[in-house]
Amino acid sequence: ENHILGNSPLYGKKVMITAGPTYEAIDPVRFIGNHSSGKMGFELAKTAANLGAEVILISGPTNQILQHSAVKINHVISAQDMYEQAHMHFNDVDIAICAAAVADYKPKEVALQKIKKDDSTLNIELEKTKDVLASLGAIKTNQFLVGFALETNNELEHAKGKLKRKNLDLIVLNSLNDKGAGFKSNTNKVTLIDAKEHITEFNLKSKADVAQDIFNEILNQRYA
Ligand code: CTP
Ligand code: CA
Repeated sequence: ENHILGNSPLYGKKVMITAGPTYEAIDPVRFIGNHSSGKMGFELAKTAANLGAEVILISGPTNQILQHSAVKINHVISAQDMYEQAHMHFNDVDIAICAAAVADYKPKEVALQKIKKDDSTLNIELEKTKDVLASLGAIKTNQFLVGFALETNNELEHAKGKLKRKNLDLIVLNSLNDKGAGFKSNTNKVTLIDAKEHITEFNLKSKADVAQDIFNEILNQRYA
């Protein structure tokens, strides 16, 4: 553990974290999902708790386990559930980090019965989900708001665009081009961009160490 006894820089602070994928129902037995493991979000929750914070972790379906007296886990399924939970808690928190891989689209209509196989093709009409992070950015008052950006090309430009568009204080650019980075792995290679577009590049490291880097940056920016 990185926790140093007697050094709790986030003591008295509340931190909200979204993690994992979301599942968007197609019918009673099927959904649209993604390969997010939830590891990064859970590491962030653990790190925040070890820094003394009270943590609310809003997580989509994952296999992650975290038992910590300072972490409360709210399990959700869909983007809509995550949106509602996040808005329920946002007013009370000092720091919010959206690390979830929220589905961008969901079936426009959820079939009430299992869809039977029929023709050789099946079309399912999709509509956009709510953007949890952008919606928090639009109403934020004094919360320090952190987002992630998963990019494969023009990474810095895309990440800076999200930082501005979603009104963030910090964005964590996740490079999918790097071996050992991404959804399933235990390691990540990130670049942090702050609201002044100051850029810090980090080496490939464990997600636990990436979580520590992210909180060091938050502490420097907000509580130094
Ligand atoms: N995010 C969110 N709700 C959504 C979509 C994204 O809260 N419906 C958040 C993610 O948790 C992440 C950030 O927005 O912190 C960026 O997610 P990303 O998928 O990289 O960007 P999008 O804005 O969805 O754009 P695109 O997928 O088209 O690149
Ligand atoms: Ca997306």
